[in-house]
Amino acid sequence: MKTFSHDTQESCNCLEKTNLQLQAMTSIIQTSKGLGFTPYYKYENFWYPEHLLPVTLDMQATFKAQPSDIILATMMKSGTTWLKAIIFAVVNRHLYTNTHKNHPLLKSSPHDCFPFIHSIYEKNNQNQLDSMPSPRLLAVHVPFSHLPASITDSGCKVVYLCRNPKDAFVSLRHYLEKMKPVGCEMTPFDKAFEMFCQGVFPFGPFWDQMLEYWTESIKSPEKVLFLKYEDLKEDLADNIKKLAEFLGCSFSAEEVKRGVVEEIVQLCDFETMKNVKANKEGEHGALVRFKNSGFFRKGKIGDWKDHITPDMAERVDKIIEQKLLGSGLMF
Ligand code: A3P
Repeated sequence: MKTFSHDTQESCNCLEKTNLQLQAMTSIIQTSKGLGFTPYYKYENFWYPEHLLPVTLDMQATFKAQPSDIILATMMKSGTTWLKAIIFAVVNRHLYTNTHKNHPLLKSSPHDCFPFIHSIYEKNNQNQLDSMPSPRLLAVHVPFSHLPASITDSGCKVVYLCRNPKDAFVSLRHYLEKMKPVGCEMTPFDKAFEMFCQGVFPFGPFWDQMLEYWTESIKSPEKVLFLKYEDLKEDLADNIKKLAEFLGCSFSAEEVKRGVVEEIVQLCDFETMKNVKANKEGEHGALVRFKNSGFFRKGKIGDWKDHITPDMAERVDKIIEQKLLGSGLMF
């Protein structure tokens, strides 16, 4: 299936095809427009950007997890690219030394080292799944309740990452602005914010997705690790150790002494990653190509303050507080 194109005419043809497929599905409510420039569909309580719903349904029906798989599930714009790099570096630390100039993360995008399952399906490249080395590193954005049953049943590890919703919203708007095909209009900021408060966000409502993974991480801490972008920013080394322990590949005392954890912190540092040629000049995407540089903007906590008024912030904070009430999860 085709997705969006920077050519407007082609975009329209693609959307037509997508709509035909979507018409065949039940339980879908359509919005006129999403938070950027394309429609979103609500499917089983969660919002999907139009082009990602058919591939997600395909993935749900056919993806076969292996017990050794490592699944990274993230809320969009929560630092997925960063955590992909971190997990890749942790899991493969015996194959590459970080200072080695041939480290894959210094040659290629984290999205190439650690693909999204939906990108593999978009490219109709499912054979790739059979040839990936173990443990397979695979990413998703879907809520826990929409994961393929083989993931939840197989016992493979799921690492989840989310972020302060206000920062993720602002980050998403900037990203979509960059991706917008020529001739397409963005939903105005205020309108998008209103929709966001009503729960519209890719693979959201934001709070519902976070709560699902949070609940699972409490129920099955050996299966689901819940991380926040803000915590990674505050103490990455400590979180890398926690992550390695969860993945069953703890750092030895000798490795810690040798500075291996610190090397990974440096390798995955925002400035280091941003300046890797593949991240600066490369492109990604299954059928339509987008610039990898779009994944590296500011990398800061609290950038929402430059884009959201105190009144708007108060409104969304109240919603978050109410939605997360009693869960133990806070932002
Ligand atoms: P901002 O737009 O707020 O700067 P994702 O990878 O899920 O799309 O998330 C993108 C966000 O993560 C962007 O946030 C981006 O700048 C930030 N990011 C990317 N790499 C990072 C890194 N190494 N350290 C901290 N933040 C990073």
